[in-house]
Amino acid sequence: MALAAAAFMGVACCMAATGRDAATEARIDSLMARMTLQEKIGQLNQLNAARFDTLGAAVAQGRVGSIINEVDPEVVNSLQRKAVEESRLGIPLIFARDVIHGFNTVFPIPLGQAATWNPQLVEEAARIAAVEATASGIRWTFSPMMDVSRDARWGRIAESAGEDPLLNERMGLAMIRGYQTDNLADPTAMAACAKHFAGYGFSEAGKDYNTTWLPLPLLEDVVLPPFEAAAGAGVATFMTSFNDINGVPSSGNSWLMRDVLRDRWRFDGVLVSDWNAITEMINHGVAADKLHATMLAATAGVDIDMEGHAYPDAMEALVREGRLDETVVDGLVRNVLRLKFRLGLFDNPYIDLSRPSPAYAPAHLAAATRAAEEGTILLKNGGMLPLGLKPGKVAVIGPMADAPYDQGGTWAPDLQHERSVTPLAALRRLYGEENVIHAPGLGYTRDKSLDGIQAAVKAAREADVAVCFVGEEAVMSGEAHSMADLGLKGAQTALLEAVCATGKPVAVVFMAGRPLTAGKEIDMADAVLYAFHGGTMAGEALANIISGKANPSGKLPVTMARMTGQYPMYYAHKNTGRPPEWTVDLDSIPVEALQTSTGCTSYYLDAGKDPLYPFGYGLSYTTFDISAPRLSASSIAIGSETPLTVECTVTNTGDREGAETVQLYVRDLVGSLARPVKELKDFRKVTLKPGESKVVSFALTPGQLSFHGLDGKPLIEAGDFQVWTAGNSVDGTPVSFSLTD
Ligand code: NOJ
Repeated sequence: MALAAAAFMGVACCMAATGRDAATEARIDSLMARMTLQEKIGQLNQLNAARFDTLGAAVAQGRVGSIINEVDPEVVNSLQRKAVEESRLGIPLIFARDVIHGFNTVFPIPLGQAATWNPQLVEEAARIAAVEATASGIRWTFSPMMDVSRDARWGRIAESAGEDPLLNERMGLAMIRGYQTDNLADPTAMAACAKHFAGYGFSEAGKDYNTTWLPLPLLEDVVLPPFEAAAGAGVATFMTSFNDINGVPSSGNSWLMRDVLRDRWRFDGVLVSDWNAITEMINHGVAADKLHATMLAATAGVDIDMEGHAYPDAMEALVREGRLDETVVDGLVRNVLRLKFRLGLFDNPYIDLSRPSPAYAPAHLAAATRAAEEGTILLKNGGMLPLGLKPGKVAVIGPMADAPYDQGGTWAPDLQHERSVTPLAALRRLYGEENVIHAPGLGYTRDKSLDGIQAAVKAAREADVAVCFVGEEAVMSGEAHSMADLGLKGAQTALLEAVCATGKPVAVVFMAGRPLTAGKEIDMADAVLYAFHGGTMAGEALANIISGKANPSGKLPVTMARMTGQYPMYYAHKNTGRPPEWTVDLDSIPVEALQTSTGCTSYYLDAGKDPLYPFGYGLSYTTFDISAPRLSASSIAIGSETPLTVECTVTNTGDREGAETVQLYVRDLVGSLARPVKELKDFRKVTLKPGESKVVSFALTPGQLSFHGLDGKPLIEAGDFQVWTAGNSVDGTPVSFSLTD
């Protein structure tokens, strides 16, 4: 039986981030009463600092409300002085920046942070980023990106927490807590920004900025939940996405921005457009000109036009001609002023230049090392790793072994790459210069020249073991860096083939912005680590893992496909009417085979049915056993306030300390709509000494078993479910329970 389930869906939506106080509202009223229309529009105008020549004058005239990309504290203070001391009303500016995975100290890319499955560590990283960035005057970061993404062709998968809504939610909320703290007015706090609202991760064919077609159940079950949680947790700002959803570009989507974000979730913070996204509605073909685009965006409730010049160019005329009611503009301005009050900028507008620079503080570097360690995934280990502290001679090979810029990853504009500790530097320090033979083989990851390969082979021959660092340069993932082929680029495969042919033990370390389709190269290696781009301390972290000073505990936040053509590929897929039980390999099909001989089920003849590695997967230098789950009851009523308790025992069955992430999956066996074969409902990372066991307990509420119908309305349906606990998305022993009316 299907019931409307608003009561069960709504925990987060009841915690809306209102936080208005009468005194602030009165100060906003008083300012608004004195503002001219141009000054109001100025508050909605965000400009890029590159316009420095004209910026100062525009600020002094009250024509700019916030500035993006100025990080020189002296310049920040001087522009702020123009706003506070020279503009008519003295309204301070907000300085914003994409502080996505660290500021001075660069942390792993968000996908790598998600691989830690450790929200506390991610919160710590965000806190450190805020401490460093605010010292340069940045009080607003455009992070976290909460776009669920299931297609690794999309370059921005690097900036997400991967394919799962819950993982994106947990990581995003951790970042929000770290940036904002519980007091936005603290000078080391930054306003966070939940982006890109919404659907951007579903860009068709993984091509950036592309269109999306999103039916309501997908939107409501997968795309929106992390954003709803962010609104509920008090994120200060949201950003519209570049894409259109079903033909409606987000910056003009009144349903999404007003009905969902403002009315349903009660978000009362600032909504900023993505860069030029208001004006780009002309390119989308839904707006004829800037007047039209402004009308659409203002009506949808977009408060700030980021470097789009639509509001400053068109809004005044729209109001003067009576096409846009000034009360609509007032609503947008009030939101911006409220954020400035919340940040404490009216009382404390300047950076304290006497504050000692927090950049690269030892504690920051230590946290970055831990994050890079925990974000590294051991995919394969025939026993070669760890190498220990005296492995003899080590050949350090590959274009990513000493790539201080590229290990920073996609969003590291403030990285000083001379501060990066590369794997080469760290291994030399650890093992001694005399024990490390360095031969990069290739100049960079796309390098097609075979000239350096012989030197790499020679190094491997002279050494006892070889460690090859391959992957992608930073520039190959991120915004506008989508790829149609996810294989290793350049001559990297040839390099690995040549090194492996020496017969020496070879460990391969991937440093990339996304999962690569590297099955062939993984097969060749004796051990494989997948590290993503690990930031400033990537090399230190990898040396610790390679030597065994640290034990890997990362888990894939995204399915790793065998072939690019398998994407979009994700663990929470539907079963289809024809799920494959067996498959046939293309090469084994006889010539003139019968059409039905391959099984007529849902798989690829050349790639099979399975990924290379599943979501949630990752090994350790120790081993774990996770018991079948024990349930507090065999059924739970839809209206029950008491959750079902699901507990299991996790035991370290190996001989060294390690951490395991216990993942809780659920399957809804029969629904009024086809349901995913499994959904992650919770997870917990636990550290265990050898032989130690711990009981891990999860609370599963009826609300977590609900989903959305074709009309986008929540449903909760009685019926049979399975639940299980495992160390990845393919293992585990399902146990049945039912949800009753
Ligand atoms: C465009 C990107 O989509 C967005 O994520 C970023 O915050 C803005 N540019 C500002 O740099």
